[in-house]
Amino acid sequence: MTSSRPIVIIGAGIIGLTTAVRLVESEGFDSSEHPVHILADHLPNDPLDAYYASTIAGAHHLSFAADEDVNQRKWDSRTFQVMHDEWKNGGEKTGLMLLKQTEFYVGTDNHLKIYEEHPEFTVLDQSTLSNSIDHSISFTSLTMTPAVYLNRLLRRLEGKVQIHRYHLSSLTNLNHSSCTALIGISSPLAVFVCAGIGALTLGGVEDQDVFPTRGQVVKLKAPWIRSGWTRQVGSLDGGEGGERTYIIPRPDGDVIVGGTREQGDWYPYPRPETTTDILRRAREIFPEIIPPYSVHSDTLSPLDEIVEGVLVGFRPSRVGGIRLEVGEDLYLGNEKVTVIHNYGHGGAGWQSCWGTAEDAVDTLLKALS
Ligand SMILES: Cc1cc2nc3c(=O)[nH]c(=O)nc-3n(C[C@H](O)[C@H](O)[C@H](O)COP(=O)(O)OP(=O)(O)OC[C@H]3O[C@@H](n4cnc5c(N)ncnc54)[C@H](O)[C@@H]3O)c2cc1C
Ligand SMILES: *[C@@H]1O[C@H](CO)[C@@H](O)[C@H](O)[C@H]1NC(C)=O
Repeated sequence: MTSSRPIVIIGAGIIGLTTAVRLVESEGFDSSEHPVHILADHLPNDPLDAYYASTIAGAHHLSFAADEDVNQRKWDSRTFQVMHDEWKNGGEKTGLMLLKQTEFYVGTDNHLKIYEEHPEFTVLDQSTLSNSIDHSISFTSLTMTPAVYLNRLLRRLEGKVQIHRYHLSSLTNLNHSSCTALIGISSPLAVFVCAGIGALTLGGVEDQDVFPTRGQVVKLKAPWIRSGWTRQVGSLDGGEGGERTYIIPRPDGDVIVGGTREQGDWYPYPRPETTTDILRRAREIFPEIIPPYSVHSDTLSPLDEIVEGVLVGFRPSRVGGIRLEVGEDLYLGNEKVTVIHNYGHGGAGWQSCWGTAEDAVDTLLKALS
C-alpha cells in the first residue's frame, strides 16, 4: 500500500454512509494512512428529492428475499441484527422503532421463510381473519426514520471522514483538479460506488441494468399508531411483485402509508389520484388509522386532516439484484485504483444496508491483500 492514498466513497445515502462507517471502524484501519472521502450530489439534510431514495423511504424492515436467495437473506438478517442491537442500546432516539408487524396476504397463502427468523413469529388463525384475507402472519420488526438515522451516521463519521458535495460525472474525473482540490493529488487507493440510481449515468459505470422503481407514499400525523400493517395482493414473484399496501409508524408520531411500485417511471412529483388510492387502501387494511377524534369519519376522506405531505422517490432497482463485487480496475495516470461496487438495492436498501456494507468492506480488504 502506498502511504496516504485516499479511499473515496461515491454517495451519501444509507449505502454510502454505512459503508463508510464499516470501513473506518474496521479493525486495524488507519484513516491517517488512508484518508476517507465521501463525494455526493445529495446530503442527508437536503430538501427531499426523488433521486435520493434514502430520505424518501418509509422505512421498515420487511424483507423481500426469496427463500433460495442466500445472499439477500444473509444481508437482510444481518441488518436486522445490527439495528435490533442499536435499538436495544439506544431506544427510539436512534430513529428506530420496535413494533408488532402484521402481514395480510390476498391471492396467495405463502409467506417468505425469512420472516420465521423474526422474534414472536406467529401464523394467525384463519378463522380470526376477514374473508378477503387468505393468510396472515405477525412478528416483531423495526421501522426507521431516515433523517434521524442518517444524521446519527453523520455524527459517527465526524472527524474520521470528510464529506463533500460534489458531482462526479465519471470515475476518470477523480483526477480532475476540481476533485483533487477536495481529496488531494494522490490518486485514490480504492473507490466504493454507492451511487444508487446514479450508477446508471456515472461514467465508467453506466450500468444499463439499473432502472427506477417509482414509489409514492403519504406522510400522516397519527401518533396513536404503534404497530405495522402490510397487505400483499398477488405473488411477490421472487422479488417485489404484486400490489403492496403498508402502514409504517415512526417514533415521532409520523406514519408513512403507501405505496406504489412503478418500474421505469421517472415522474418525480406526486399524482393526486395515487394519493387518493393509497389513503383508501390504508383504511382498508387498518381502519384505526382514522383519527379517533375525527368528527366526520363518514365523509369521503377522513384522513385528509392528518396528511402532512406526499413523497415520491426512485428505488435504485437493478436487473439481477444488488451489485456487490470488485469492478474493473481503474487507471488514473499510471496508478491502479480498486473499484468496489455496492449499488442496486431497489426497495431493500434500508433493510440490507449493514449486511452489504460489511461485505463491501471485506471485499476491498481481500482485494488489497
Ligand atoms: C417510497 C420508497 C419506500 C421505500 N421503503 C423502503 C423500506 O421500507 N425498506 C427498505 O429497506 N428500503 C426502502 N426503500 C428503498 C431504499 O430507500 C433504497 O434501497 C435505498 O435508499 C438506496 O440507498 P442508496 O444509498 O443506494 O441510494 P440513495 O439514497 O439514492 O443515495 C445515492 C447517493 O449517491 C449520490 N450520487 C449518485 N450519483 C452521483 C454522482 N455521479 N456523483 C456524486 N454523487 C452521486 C447521491 O447524491 C446520493 O448521495 C424505499 C424507497 C422508496 C422510494
Ligand atoms: C487522469 O487519468 C487519465 C487516465 O489515466 C489520464 O488520461 C489523464 O491525463 C489524467 N488527468 C490528469 C489531470 O492527471
